[in-house]
Amino acid sequence: MRFRYICSDCGRVYDTEDLMYQCPVCAKENDGTSFSKGNLIVELSEEVLRTAREKDHVTPNDFYPYPNDNEKEYPIGVTPLMKPERLALELGTPNLLFKLDSQLISGSFKDRASYEVALQARALGEKKIALASTGNAGAAMSAVGAAMGLDIILFVPASAPINKLMQSVLYGAKVVPVKGSYDDAFKLSIAYTNLKGGINRNTAYNPMTIEGKKSISIELFEQMGRSIPDAVYVPVGDGCIIAGVAKGFIDLKRAGLIEKLPRIICCQSTESAAITNAINSEDYSEFNATTRADSISVGLPANGRMARRYVIESEGWAVTVTDQEILDSQLELTSKAGVLAEPAAACAYAAFKKDKENFKSKLGENATAVVLLTGSGFKDMKAFDGRVSLPNAIENSEEEVAKLPF
Ligand SMILES: Cc1ncc(COP(=O)(O)O)c(C=O)c1O
Repeated sequence: MRFRYICSDCGRVYDTEDLMYQCPVCAKENDGTSFSKGNLIVELSEEVLRTAREKDHVTPNDFYPYPNDNEKEYPIGVTPLMKPERLALELGTPNLLFKLDSQLISGSFKDRASYEVALQARALGEKKIALASTGNAGAAMSAVGAAMGLDIILFVPASAPINKLMQSVLYGAKVVPVKGSYDDAFKLSIAYTNLKGGINRNTAYNPMTIEGKKSISIELFEQMGRSIPDAVYVPVGDGCIIAGVAKGFIDLKRAGLIEKLPRIICCQSTESAAITNAINSEDYSEFNATTRADSISVGLPANGRMARRYVIESEGWAVTVTDQEILDSQLELTSKAGVLAEPAAACAYAAFKKDKENFKSKLGENATAVVLLTGSGFKDMKAFDGRVSLPNAIENSEEEVAKLPF
């Protein structure tokens, strides 16, 4: 067997490679009033880990529960690791790095999870995948589905940014806009697979989403010359990306390739801070999420408990920033680093900026921080409305050029 499942709450072990979503015992306790229980962790076999340990160079494929013989079929990474010199100098943090996951095929980090779920579907002989999304996961699953010949059924809040929805329509998904929140779309997509079959890709509900997302850490390990950063700043909504980031490092550690985990830092908006509350005060209740950073606006995070556990295990912490700080950071990323990131991604940079003195005092002036820029700003240009505008056109004459004040 290549892997088995372990319940992240009660620790029960499930010795199976069959399709499983949640621990049937813990999931019974879920009544929709607090963070759900029973999400499963995939545990790779000792043999898989030993094989990885003996390699001179590892790729995420070495650590996937469902690897792909053809790694070029839908390339996941290697996304650029950027050293934003101007910002690093300004902040006094010389070893600041940006991981540009906006460069993945559909323009966000979500390709990572979607790819592994597509491989799961293929391995299990399923053609149909249903999911709920705030926009990016849907676009990513639809893109992977188009490339790998799968039918994608996508439930999204009708208010999701239009470009993200149009992307999914263009890739050929069956898009079902829901008059409700992302949490409502989540429940409906589970009802769909219960009623009509197929695989459900909902974030964290399907453990393969975390397995796909962990690819970033394996990639980083090789990209940084077989070493790891001191801290990773991750934008958090449902808590699945952050758990994936942690899981990648946990697998590397289990394989004996690294000795300890980097600090995993949970970055949230003050207007959507459910997991921060869980980390700081074990509060697992619903948050009235209203942040403009739509991708991280989540009331009841689907993977809140596991996210909290991994942040604490890594000796990390949580940072919250206001929506204004997120939007200001978004403009700073464009004007001082040339990176057009969506608001959710800018949240991680805003959090790093706010946390920099704490980061330096805990980890040292020269510590290395990787900030995950998880999604492209091109998908939501409306976020700039009222903040930047195009200048008026000039007459077609050289006199007009001479009059320009710059
Ligand atoms: C661009 C981007 N960043 C961050 C997140 C947050 O990920 P998670 O919901 O797994 O915490 C998302 C989720 O949709 C996203 O699309």
